[in-house]
Amino acid sequence: MKTRITELFGIRHPIIQGGMHYVGLAELAAAVSNAGGLGIITGLTQKTPELLAREIRRCRDLTDQPIGVNLTFLPAFTSPPYPEYIAAIVEGGVKIVETAGRSPEKYMPALKAAGIKVIHKCTSVRHSLKAESIGCDAVSVDGFECGGHPGEDDVPNFILLPRAAEALKVPFVASGGMADGRSLVAALALGADGMNMGTRFIATQEAPVHPKVKQALVEATELDTRLIMRAIRNTERVLRNDAVDRLLEIEKEKGAALKIDDIMEQVAGVYPRVMEKGDLDAGAWSCGMVVGLIHDVPTVRELVERTMREAEALIRGRLAGMLDDR
Ligand SMILES: Cc1cc2nc3c(=O)[nH]c(=O)nc-3n(C[C@H](O)[C@H](O)[C@H](O)COP(=O)(O)O)c2cc1C
Repeated sequence: MKTRITELFGIRHPIIQGGMHYVGLAELAAAVSNAGGLGIITGLTQKTPELLAREIRRCRDLTDQPIGVNLTFLPAFTSPPYPEYIAAIVEGGVKIVETAGRSPEKYMPALKAAGIKVIHKCTSVRHSLKAESIGCDAVSVDGFECGGHPGEDDVPNFILLPRAAEALKVPFVASGGMADGRSLVAALALGADGMNMGTRFIATQEAPVHPKVKQALVEATELDTRLIMRAIRNTERVLRNDAVDRLLEIEKEKGAALKIDDIMEQVAGVYPRVMEKGDLDAGAWSCGMVVGLIHDVPTVRELVERTMREAEALIRGRLAGMLDDR
């Protein structure tokens, strides 16, 4: 399939694997890129720029296809050394960066000078337009359904994507709630040039996470996510568990007076415990509503090829078949 996104990134299929903390390691990124999509290493999971440089080299050993690195500019307790992370990306020869969180404006000159294509993840049309205006090459439009941080506007993709299509000139992918060929065709119909998947890629053979995490995703339904941290405007969609229930109780008690310190136990240092050790109740970890559409743990290649087969069959068969030939 050829879209503005496949052309921009030099990939075979318009499918991107979004950056995911403690999931987007070399193995997964390489598997997605080898399957014809765009695999992305999560920059900040690597605790230092040197470790990121090593992870990029590891990924390069596993694939000769284009790869990307995610740089998340989130409210952090200690701000990571972003210029050094960018230097590691540039020196590693990576030509695609997925930015997320705060605006990448400050870092655009360095990224552009290195010939890097930037795709910024946005949860609103106004942020997407801002990204376009500062020179981002593409946008990943993340609807309210998404795993991770959906922002504070709560606009689902059925509205957000066509609004983005009305407003944007640069290509964009649909993100949040994407799982299969149906999602891809719907995203294209709503004006996107491809799709970005997070949660779905965790339940794959190559995702370097504990098998219990994959099993939990297969077992969960679309009713099993919760929104946390709304009161501090850092809303995150997570999989419900005992720690999340406790966190929500604290949020109810504290109301608008909630401080990050009140919920530290449920949100700090959770990812290595969940993803590496399989301690699913260690705290709150991101998961999209799309979890209700995850019923198996295929290889990345099976998932990508199945998605593309399904999309083609839907377009050529189901949709074309509905048209009156006369
Ligand atoms: C476990 C997990 C961790 C994530 N970590 C990050 C991250 O570190 N940086 C980022 O920009 N997005 C992160 N995301 C968001 C994804 O990149 C993607 O935008 C989102 O998962 C899309 O929604 P979906 O889960 O419905 O596919 C994470 C998502 C999940 C599920």
